[in-house]
Amino acid sequence: MKINVLNGPNLNLLGRREPDVYGMESFSDLEQLIFKSADELDVVVSVRQTNSESELIDWIQESFESKTPVILNPAAFTHYSYALRDACSMLTTAGIPLIEVHISNPHAREEFRQTSVISSVATGVIAGFGHSSYILALKALTQR
Ligand code: DQA
Repeated sequence: MKINVLNGPNLNLLGRREPDVYGMESFSDLEQLIFKSADELDVVVSVRQTNSESELIDWIQESFESKTPVILNPAAFTHYSYALRDACSMLTTAGIPLIEVHISNPHAREEFRQTSVISSVATGVIAGFGHSSYILALKALTQR
């Protein structure tokens, strides 16, 4: 089993970006955590990050073509990107699971973060558990 773990804008600066909200660990620490957990769960993961909406949509389309389940942290695109939502919807309506993850709990933050245009087309949503949100998503996908 392969899983694509896709990350949106500004997540490359984890550890330096608002550490009180997102923690002290870097994106590369997050990658290592995901690889270790994937090893234990016996799945192959590809972990990627981009600041570009178009690149993120290309990666969802690639996952659609290869029928690869996705763990997606859409970052700020969560709140307004209908183009990303359409790509995610294409995936999940084709029966390919997509889990939306967040490090923080957007519902406990500013009002604009309380809207996700992705959640209603995602297979499930995991938020607020720090970097463990990704591990919980990996476990959820591998148990399906
Ligand atoms: C985030 C929450 C979003 O609101 C924010 O724009 C991010 C990160 C999270 O993982 O908590 O960039 O997706």
